[in-house]
Amino acid sequence: MASFICSILLTYIILTTTSASALTSFHPNKTLVLTVSKDPSTLQYTTKVIQRTPPVPVLLTLDLSTPISWVLCGNRYVSTTYRPASCGSPPCILANTKRCRTCGPTPFKSGCNKNTCRTLSLNNPFTNVSPRRGGELATDVIRINSTDGSNPGQLVTMPNNLFVCAPMSLLQGLAKGVSGVAGLGRSKTSLPTQLSSSFRLPQKFALCLPPLRENGVVFIGDGPYNFYPGVDATTLLSYTPIIANSARPNNYFIGVQGIKVGNKNVTLNKSLLSINRKGSGGTMLSVNHPYTLLQSSIYKAVTAAFDGQLRNSSFPAKRVPPVKPFQLCYDPTSLSYTRIGPVVPDIDLVLQSKKVFWRIAATNSIVRASDNAYCLGILDGGKNPRTSILVGGFQIEDNLLQFDLAKSRLGFSSSLIYDRLRCSFFNFTSNAL
Ligand SMILES: *[C@@H]1O[C@H](CO)[C@@H](O)[C@H](O)[C@H]1NC(C)=O
Ligand SMILES: *[C@@H]1O[C@H](CO)[C@@H](O)[C@H](O)[C@H]1NC(C)=O
Ligand SMILES: *[C@@H]1O[C@H](CO)[C@@H](O)[C@H](O)[C@H]1NC(C)=O
Ligand SMILES: *[C@@H]1O[C@H](CO)[C@@H](O)[C@H](O)[C@H]1NC(C)=O
Repeated sequence: MASFICSILLTYIILTTTSASALTSFHPNKTLVLTVSKDPSTLQYTTKVIQRTPPVPVLLTLDLSTPISWVLCGNRYVSTTYRPASCGSPPCILANTKRCRTCGPTPFKSGCNKNTCRTLSLNNPFTNVSPRRGGELATDVIRINSTDGSNPGQLVTMPNNLFVCAPMSLLQGLAKGVSGVAGLGRSKTSLPTQLSSSFRLPQKFALCLPPLRENGVVFIGDGPYNFYPGVDATTLLSYTPIIANSARPNNYFIGVQGIKVGNKNVTLNKSLLSINRKGSGGTMLSVNHPYTLLQSSIYKAVTAAFDGQLRNSSFPAKRVPPVKPFQLCYDPTSLSYTRIGPVVPDIDLVLQSKKVFWRIAATNSIVRASDNAYCLGILDGGKNPRTSILVGGFQIEDNLLQFDLAKSRLGFSSSLIYDRLRCSFFNFTSNAL
């Protein structure tokens, strides 16, 4: 029943958005594209969309657990196309917001819009602050580049993109210049889901996160996702199911069955790898953590295997004092190198079968923490974390991840660098006329 209502609502949103956008803008036949960069001080991944009338560029931090985008709404929010969602309207039901009428932040000086719905699930994922009065649910115009898979093309317009107007108190913890969060969570109101519905694109999006000082890319819709020199990176994907966790429905979990270090099994407490009845345990993707966190016993087993193999090799690596936040660090002069970087054991997350694994090789495991230290960029997540493995940003950089929402599966490439590609090899030069 609930899904029936949702499909009616989605149809409503699709019809209202597409009929309006058909009049106002060019239609992409395929895919949309966002550019991504990494903020050096917070290590957040940010993107830019054009919002409002008159249009302004808005910088947003990407988050894989936020179900609906939110944008700070001080009195600097000026837009003639801003529309608060009225109580009981389809957007309020879609966003599952039953709160009505209470005053709270709104871009308009008149204080508060009556008879509008407010979402209480509003949360800043970096500070975990949730404003008591939530935020006003609203729609406004956004504009995003389309792509033929090879270059950005014309801007397309979504006239009534649903988002939450957030109080200025949520600003804390966000990267400089950023004024909100792009919700990429597993939800009917996420930015990719809304854009796919609005432009009748397949319910898929792909993430290619960049390291510092490079550009990355988010594609909304299907491939090809072409990276110079003309390689469609969808051909590099392996797939694993996205696992539902009813306690955390907006998050992406995958089914890690085991971990290998240097092709050897690591002995782990397997019960930590599955999601229990309370929704604890398992493996979740979390780009708001800059580095992967492993539950303490998993961390100890993986680092013991990693360190043991590095130090018992014919050219033993030499440990140096830890460099925060890392614990396991090595003298760069004691490591051996290839054209790509230092040689260290691969860490494989073994998925639904022995043959399907996500390989975390040196480019995604080793961080140049100082002139005198290369460190393992994986951290101890504590004895009793809610989730046993949180796969963080650094481990995802220069990997292509495709979230196929219709099929509930994740496509992953492991590092593109070993295929001589990088996220920044997408051709960012527009070929719009
Ligand atoms: C390694 O672990 C996998 C399960 O993750 C198991 O199927 C396999 O038999 C193990 N291999 C060895 C050599 O123990
Ligand atoms: C394995 O993990 C589970 C869940 O945290 C815990 O209850 C159990 O005691 C652990 N087993 C061992 C042998 O440490
Ligand atoms: C669209 O693409 C062009 C070319 O890369 C870029 O300059 C522009 O900033 C992009 N616009 C948005 C909204 O991403
Ligand atoms: C990037 O795209 C532009 C516009 O289509 C094209 O002129 C240029 O040659 C491309 N660059 C590379 C390296 O392919």
